[in-house]
Amino acid sequence: MTRHFLKDDDITPAEQAEILELAIALKKDPYSEKVFAGPKTVALIFDKTSTRTRVSFSVGVSDLGGVPLVMDSGTSQLGAKESVADTARVLERQVAQIVWRTYAQSGLEEMAQHSRVPVINSLSDSWHPCQLLADLMTIREHFGHTDGVKIAYIGDAANNMGNSYLIACAMAGMHVSIGAPARYQPDVEVVRRAQEIAKQFGSVIEVHERPEDAVRHAHVVATDTWVSMGMEKEKQKRIKMFADYTVTNRLLELADPSVIFLHCLPAYRGYEVAADVIDGPRSFIWEEAENRLHAQKALMVWLDRQQKLGK
Ligand code: CP
Repeated sequence: MTRHFLKDDDITPAEQAEILELAIALKKDPYSEKVFAGPKTVALIFDKTSTRTRVSFSVGVSDLGGVPLVMDSGTSQLGAKESVADTARVLERQVAQIVWRTYAQSGLEEMAQHSRVPVINSLSDSWHPCQLLADLMTIREHFGHTDGVKIAYIGDAANNMGNSYLIACAMAGMHVSIGAPARYQPDVEVVRRAQEIAKQFGSVIEVHERPEDAVRHAHVVATDTWVSMGMEKEKQKRIKMFADYTVTNRLLELADPSVIFLHCLPAYRGYEVAADVIDGPRSFIWEEAENRLHAQKALMVWLDRQQKLGK
């Protein structure tokens, strides 16, 4: 059975910890794994724009001895002229893994269903699990562990980042606190799933309307853009709706004194985060962005090992 990584809990908490351990080892010794020697090719498909994901997967595949094949939706047959299933059948015979940034989660599920090589979700409308591996790695590097660490995610939580923070951080034994307006809170089913996972670790999952309530005693405060890809038409409405959710130094004063700030980027200074926070001493955004590389390399190595073990 081929293992895929389409959402955060497609791996177990123990497997997540194993991948993070490997990511930290690969950061120290970047060229020690050559799973794509040959060189084998990895398909990187982008239906949406990207800087970090495109760069980190391209560099990561090269570091692992392989060749990255970047395909943009506008220049391939996928979507407009050819089905996801037929694309998977073509790719699986020629590439070692398929990395896809797309819109609907159902597309990724269909790709995985028809592919004998691992499929990785590099962002969909529902989940951003590769980003969370990088965030967890950054938290682990900074605090030495993830268990018992409290993260507060502020702003638009009815999106892929809100979902992935809830599930991936719960899997890492963290307390998760969401601060979002009533209309932009996470899906109740995702919250229920996070609470079910958190029970194993004795950690707490909370959803608040007031950002002040969410950040209390938090060790990590994270946010994301208020206008995710595809929502550009709602920009003015969203700016008004989230006006009280800017992460400021005043808000961070309510958090634990050791608090650090994370943002998956790109960021809009003055909107979801104040410039003096994102550019200040509590910000670990550049470490977080770099860790996309190490975490995704670890994920690709781990999936390759699972493939070889026939798991
Ligand atoms: N955080 C993130 O996924 O960045 P890009 O959109 O630039 O890939």
